[in-house]
Amino acid sequence: MIYKVIEVPAVLRYGFLIQMERKMIVLKGVSKRYFAGFAAVSAVEKVDLTIPSGSIFGIIGRSGAGKSTLLRVMSLLEAPDSGEVFYGDERVDILQGNELLQRRRRMGMIFQNFNLLGSRNVTGNIAYPLEIAGVTKKQIHERVDELLELVDIRDKRRARLRELSGGQKQRVAIARALAAKPEVLFCDEATSALDPQTTRSILALIRDLHGKLGLTVVLITHQMEVIRAVCQEVAVMEAGRIVETGSVEAVFEAPQTTAAKEMIHG
Ligand SMILES: Nc1ncnc2c1ncn2[C@@H]1O[C@H](COP(=O)(O)OP(=O)(O)OP(=O)(O)O)[C@@H](O)[C@H]1O
Ligand SMILES: [Mg+2]
Repeated sequence: MIYKVIEVPAVLRYGFLIQMERKMIVLKGVSKRYFAGFAAVSAVEKVDLTIPSGSIFGIIGRSGAGKSTLLRVMSLLEAPDSGEVFYGDERVDILQGNELLQRRRRMGMIFQNFNLLGSRNVTGNIAYPLEIAGVTKKQIHERVDELLELVDIRDKRRARLRELSGGQKQRVAIARALAAKPEVLFCDEATSALDPQTTRSILALIRDLHGKLGLTVVLITHQMEVIRAVCQEVAVMEAGRIVETGSVEAVFEAPQTTAAKEMIHG
């Protein structure tokens, strides 16, 4: 028994070190500003960040810190004003047309408000990205079955969205995000609309999927307990900048910046 207690963390640690060697996403000097009337808002300011392949990486910061903007740049929904985005060694912020589309198909995204299609039932929502990608009906049917199983909502396959709880809707959104077998899952406040118990079950699912599928997960939140529950590494954002990064353990034990101290201690 004692042997097991010692052995498991060691295995996890070595696994994590191996993953650390591979860079999944690298941001170099990324900035993004918006113009509201005559005023410019610097939403993201000269961000350098490396997200290791296979990690669960958290980005935390107060409302307006620039987390969603950073995630949109990282997921190629928006181009940065300056700076570069790499996936592995490939520069991706300059991709256009079909190349951009192909790259984006290798990413999944989930949001606070689920962003599901109200006109479609559960199966229809999960099948949607596969239909767009031109997958055959038979393959879609098989893949949807697998995904329903993966997120544990087999009994809801024909349910309308209005018949689902928030947690069940987020499971549908996760299944849809994973339909095309992405290598990275971006989560923008995915549990912020859920009660604490449902939050725990969704975070457990994300952790489980990360382990099973070897996904890289980038998770943004303003809730420290979310970071603590699932992330290995964390970056703290304040006013568009990353002010601190490190292992979750290190940042929790000895936060260096005022922003990190305030996030942890309230
Ligand atoms: N499309 C936009 N047009 C104008 N300003 C924007 C736009 N998107 C974001 N901003 C501004 O950029 C800054 C960063 O916003 P962002 O949504 O990235 O923050 P956030 O950390 O995700 O906040 P929250 O926790 O509230 O979601 C804010 O000042 C916001 O008002
Ligand atoms: Mg946001």
